[in-house]
Amino acid sequence: MNNQHQESEPAAGVQAGSVSEESWNEDTYAAWTSRFGTPAEAAAKLAKDPLVKLFPISSYFGEISGKKIINLMGSNGMKAVALALLGAEVTVADFSEANARYAKDLASAAEVQLTYHVSDVLNLPAEVAESSYDIVFAEQGIVHYFTDLAPFMDTAYRLLSPGGRFVLRDFHPITTKLISSKGSTAKVRKHKVSGDYFDTGLEEKIVSYSKYLPASAGGMGEKKSVVHWRRWTLGEIVTAAAASGLVITMLVEEPNLSSDVYDKGIPKTFTLVAEKAGQA
Ligand SMILES: C[S@@+](CC[C@H](N)C(=O)[O-])C[C@H]1O[C@@H](n2cnc3c(N)ncnc32)[C@H](O)[C@@H]1O
Repeated sequence: MNNQHQESEPAAGVQAGSVSEESWNEDTYAAWTSRFGTPAEAAAKLAKDPLVKLFPISSYFGEISGKKIINLMGSNGMKAVALALLGAEVTVADFSEANARYAKDLASAAEVQLTYHVSDVLNLPAEVAESSYDIVFAEQGIVHYFTDLAPFMDTAYRLLSPGGRFVLRDFHPITTKLISSKGSTAKVRKHKVSGDYFDTGLEEKIVSYSKYLPASAGGMGEKKSVVHWRRWTLGEIVTAAAASGLVITMLVEEPNLSSDVYDKGIPKTFTLVAEKAGQA
């Protein structure tokens, strides 16, 4: 598999263009059910050990219980519900209706409160935009959605209470922009420096909605749409965060955390931790 196409989930409905929103919503819900089980099944698994689902990002959060947390582009709510199980007051903002439906069913099966706003994170309803959060976080497939990072970083800054913490964890640009890899075992895996790290172009992506769909839910390739992605360098990401007024406290570059041998030596993800100045 070529690793330049990392995305951990079906794509978002708002960008679906000609795709029927209704059928897309049903398919996305089915896709999550196929991947994680019904919300009841997923909730039972989460409840056994919520921290497992939060590895490694929760290590950057500090105390979780009692904290007011917003997960930007929080998708199916898995992380949010895990945090709620640990005693946080959690909000998700994501523009996918289908993700919201799965997340709400998951929260209710887990018997926790979850506030989910179906909204563009750059255009949040006043009730969210005017609240302030101890922790704002977003992870795993985030920055490439924005053709300008300033509005996203400004949003994170605005949502934080003074002394609050922003945690952004995403795919490392060395992996997404520079290196392409193939071979499915560590032994045969080969890497090539085939990309241009400094490329500022927009990528047109054909997004398939059927990645996690069971065969019964429709043929492969039936539901596709075009979206535009911008691949940012690490320098651009950090600079955009600093320019919004965030005080960067940590930039951690992470290897493949799920294997000691597969893609060893290549940075796979990064975590940026930043704070809004002021007294918590
Ligand atoms: C790849 S996912 C992020 C992964 C997710 N954090 C998780 O842990 O599963 C990207 C999410 O961003 C949402 N999204 C993309 N652009 C958005 C925007 N401008 N406003 C709100 N949600 C957005 C999509 O609906 C999708 O759920």
